[in-house]
This record gives sequence, C-alpha cells and structure tokens, in this order.
Amino acid sequence: MILLGISGGIAAYKTPELVRLLVKAGHDVQVVMTEAAHHFVAPLVLQTLSGHTVRADFFATEAEHSCSHIALADAAQLVLVAPATANIVAKVAHGLCDDLLSTIINATKAPVIFAPAMNTNMWHNPITQRNVATLTSLGYTIVPPDHGTLACGYEGDGRLPALEILVDAVQRRVPAG
Ligand SMILES: Cc1cc2nc3c(=O)[nH]c(=O)nc-3n(C[C@H](O)[C@H](O)[C@H](O)COP(=O)(O)O)c2cc1C
Repeated sequence: MILLGISGGIAAYKTPELVRLLVKAGHDVQVVMTEAAHHFVAPLVLQTLSGHTVRADFFATEAEHSCSHIALADAAQLVLVAPATANIVAKVAHGLCDDLLSTIINATKAPVIFAPAMNTNMWHNPITQRNVATLTSLGYTIVPPDHGTLACGYEGDGRLPALEILVDAVQRRVPAG
C-alpha cells in the first residue's frame, strides 16, 4: 500500500489526479490528509478515486483500529508526502507528532518521499533548507520543487513537479503489480 500524505499547500488541488495515476499504475493508495489540506481538496474526491476512507482525524473513534497511526505506518510500503508544506517538513525534521500524518511518518519503517511545494521565499528560507537537509541526512527522499509561475503570483522555485515525476519516484521504490 502506498500511503499518500497530503498537507495544506495550494498544490493539493492536483492530488486527485495523482491518486488516479498511482491507481492506474497498479498501486493500492491510502490517503491521509492534514486539517489544512481540507481547504484545498475534498476528501470525497480522494476517497472515490482511491477506494479507501480518507484519514485525517488522529482521535477518530470510528476507525477500525484505535492505534490507526501505527496500523497505517506498518501497512505502508512507502509514504509519499505531496504536496509537502514547509510546516510538515519542519515538523518531521524535528520529530513532532501532533497530527495523524506527522505521527505516521514518525512511526513508519517504510521509505518516505517528500515533494515540497511552496512560495519561493518559503522554499529558499534557510530554515526550510536546513530542515530539508536534515531530512535528507536522515535518509528521507526529497523530490525538489520545479521552477515556474507559482499560485501566489511569484516566479521561482516552489512548484510541485509534474505528477508523472512523483509516480516515477514511487515506482522506482515500489514497482506496482
Ligand atoms: C491560500 C493558501 C495557500 C497556501 N499554500 C501553501 C503552499 O503551497 N505551501 C506551504 O508550505 N504552505 C502553504 N500555505 C500555508 C499552509 O496552509 C499552513 O502553513 C498550514 O499550517 C500547513 O499545515 P499542514 O502542514 O499541517 O498541512 C498556504 C496557505 C494558504 C491560505
């Protein structure tokens, strides 16, 4: 199972298509969203395309497993965080576990790929760059953002790479089928 973690960047609006491409490639995809991500993409769309209940609530009582963060962390063959906000990158780099997604990433032994996407000043902020370097040094994979016109109107680095690049990054680690 590929666990797709969606954090609250504007590029989250692209994630239904990412789910579709991963499923088309033969992957079983389970989506976990942050609270902020709900502002940018509807869980119902992701649920319909993935065929699984979308998880977001750490303390949900309706989940079939009370330690759903550990169950999901164990079940994942790979975690792809796309888009990865400056916030989730910072949280993981510092070991914070204050929501479902950050806790799953902390708990999993599966490879984790981050696809950061954000305003170019946020991306080039030395704090973000230090956090990215920390993640890289700890063995996490970073798919760097593309250069281009950003949703905020800026021109620069920070765009989510083409979805095919993200699917390739997953396929290299976990071939479908
Ligand atoms: C319209 C809008 C667009 C945003 N886009 C991004 C973005 O592309 N990347 C980013 O790192 N943060 C972005 N943010 C800020 C995040 O939503 C905010 O830092 C949030 O706390 C992230 O929470 P999460 O990491 O738990 O999803 C945006 C905020 C707004 C209001």
